[in-house]
Parts: sequence; C-alpha cells; structure tokens
Amino acid sequence: MSHPLDSRLNEELCHWEQQGRKRTLTQAKGRDFTTNDYFSLSRHPEVIQAAQKAIEKYGAGTGAARLLRGNLDLHEQLEAEAAQWQKTEAALLFPSGYQANLALLATLPEEGDVILSDERNHASIIDGCRLSKATCLIYQHNSLASLQERLDQWKKTAKVGTQAWIVTERVFSMDADLAPITEIIAFAEKENAFVFLDEAHAAGVYPVLSENTRCVSKLITGGKALGVCGALLCTTQAIKNILLHRGRSFVFTTAPSPATTGALLKSVQLLQEHPQWRKELFEKAHFLRKHLQAISIPVGGEGAIIPIRLGDEKTAMSFAEALQEKGFDIRAVRPPTVPTGDSQLRIVCKKDHSEKQLLTLAEAIGDIWKSLVTAPLS
Ligand SMILES: Cc1ncc(COP(=O)(O)O)c(C=O)c1O
Repeated sequence: MSHPLDSRLNEELCHWEQQGRKRTLTQAKGRDFTTNDYFSLSRHPEVIQAAQKAIEKYGAGTGAARLLRGNLDLHEQLEAEAAQWQKTEAALLFPSGYQANLALLATLPEEGDVILSDERNHASIIDGCRLSKATCLIYQHNSLASLQERLDQWKKTAKVGTQAWIVTERVFSMDADLAPITEIIAFAEKENAFVFLDEAHAAGVYPVLSENTRCVSKLITGGKALGVCGALLCTTQAIKNILLHRGRSFVFTTAPSPATTGALLKSVQLLQEHPQWRKELFEKAHFLRKHLQAISIPVGGEGAIIPIRLGDEKTAMSFAEALQEKGFDIRAVRPPTVPTGDSQLRIVCKKDHSEKQLLTLAEAIGDIWKSLVTAPLS
C-alpha cells in the first residue's frame, strides 16, 4: 500500500535517478580500501576488550546528556588523555565530528564576526557556518591570497571588537591534499585571527601540531584513525566551558556510550604508544602510489588517501563497480560530495594491507583504466 507522501517524494527520487545520482545503502563486500580505519583499530583486540569492559562496568548506554546524569568518569578520563595527546588545555567529547563542528562554529563566532572557510571544507563545517550568526566568506582552496582578499573585504565594514575566524581541514578528506597550516597560522598571527583546525583525516596519521595560541581548536574525529566513532574537540578550557553552556549539539544530545568511550580511550593510548604505525602506513601508501604512477595512473593527494580523478560521474561509478566485482571495496566520490566534473575514485590505504594486495589492486586498476578510460584525463 502506498503512503500519501509517496507521490511527492517519488518525484524527487526519480529526479535523482535520472541524474544517475541515486543512492542506496549497501553491505560491505570485498577487501576494505574505503574506510578511514587506517590502522584497523576497529578490530584491534585491545580496543574491543576496552569496549567490552566499559559495557560491563557502565552498561550499554548513558541514558542522558553529559550535563545531566550521562557524565561518566570514563568520559573525563578520555578527555584528559586526548588533551594531553594533542597538547591542549582541555578536550570535549562529542557523539560525532559533525556535531562538534556544528557546536564550535555556531557558538564561538558571533554576530559581526567573520568565518573564513576553505571552499573544500567538509559538509559539517559548511553546516556549522550556516548555523552561525557570523558572516561566512569562502576562500579559494588553500589560497593565502584569497584568504587575505576575503578578510580585507570583511574589514571594510567590520565593527570594533569583532573577530575573524579561519576554519580549514588539515588533510582534505576527498582530494587528500594538505592545508598550508604553518602559513595559515602565521597569517592568523599577523591578522589577529583565530584558527579552527579540522584534524579528521590528520589525527593519528600526521604528527600532532605544535602548540600555538592562534589555533584554538583541533577536531579529532573518532571514526577515522581511531577506528570507533564520536569526536574529541581539543581546545582551551574557556572554549570548552562556553560549549558546555551554549554548544547546542553538545548540550542537547545523549552522552556517548560507554563502549564508544572505552574504545576511544584505548585507541588514543595505542596511537601514542605506536608512533611507528604512521611510518608503516605511509610506506604502504607510497608503495601503491609508486605502482600506479608506473602505469601512468594519475594519482593525487598525499598520505594514506589516494584519489584518482576521473572527472565524469558515470566513468567513476563504472570504474568503482568494476573494482568491486574484482573484490576491492573502493567507492566513487561524486557530486554533491565533490563539485560537478570532479568525480573520482577514493582509495584508502591501511597499515595492514600487504604488498601483494596492493600490487593486485594496482594491476586491476591498470586493466580497468585501459578498458574504461580511453584518453588520459587532464
Ligand atoms: C573533515 C571532516 N570533518 C568532520 C567529519 C565528521 O565526522 P563524523 O563522521 O564523526 O561526524 C568528517 C567525516 O567524514 C570529515 O571528513
């Protein structure tokens, strides 16, 4: 039986389908070259055991928000460990990175302030900017000149006592390139601006950013290198205190579960105890990049994420499907996640991939490239 809303919603769904952008939920199949679980911590026995112990001690759920009865000593232990790891005064645990970005951007910058946001920033940053009462200006990807231009544009009408904030990812999630973070911090110093750094794809993979007074928050997402979920906003004590009062996506949500919190604490400890994992991960990524470049596949980015830009959405989808048929779980990234004409394959290397697996993948990509991509893309 059809629901009275169906005809209206199906019209929109038809539109997505006609554009070739229909989305469905699928179960994981094939070898994982797609998740951001770079060190396979989601399967690490000590992480699993920490989650089990936390459930035994605290139960399956917290039952309330942190400001109510949901606050556990385990949450506080994790926050203390994260702050020490990231060399910040404090840390605040969120159920997700999305919520952390919303809380930060909607709370700290106030009316009359400006948020300068990189054009390639993640959707959670974009949505946080949308919720903010500050003016939001978008600067060209990784361009200091564009950043300066946008700031100067705002300064023309800026009122006394207002503040400029810069928000950027450190490793961009799709193109896997790095923000010029040293230059951005120097710029912030010169211009008396503050920086919010989204470390989603950098945390655990790149060295901890050295202490400085301009970068006032580092967002560590728990669902990537840490292999769990949730997020730790590593920041100053004063910012943490303000978020406890006004960070709506922190205040009005149930506290992260004991299992999540226990697992995250163990992952944070393991990453600090095993700095050599980063080197092993980079060696694997370098190995795959080298073999793809040797067969003239135009790989992009740096580090563990290897994007292959295909441009056309349909080519990217067919390429990913062909790889999936060969047993590699690799996904196409297409609009609206990336701009139109920028569709790509996003390959994620892991520390535990063997050289044999990486070689087999490189060969498969080479074969599909020959049959699917007739002329090399610029
Ligand atoms: C750069 C960046 N920021 C924030 C998030 C959101 O994190 P979460 O998945 O924990 O909501 C993501 C997740 O994909 C991300 O890539």
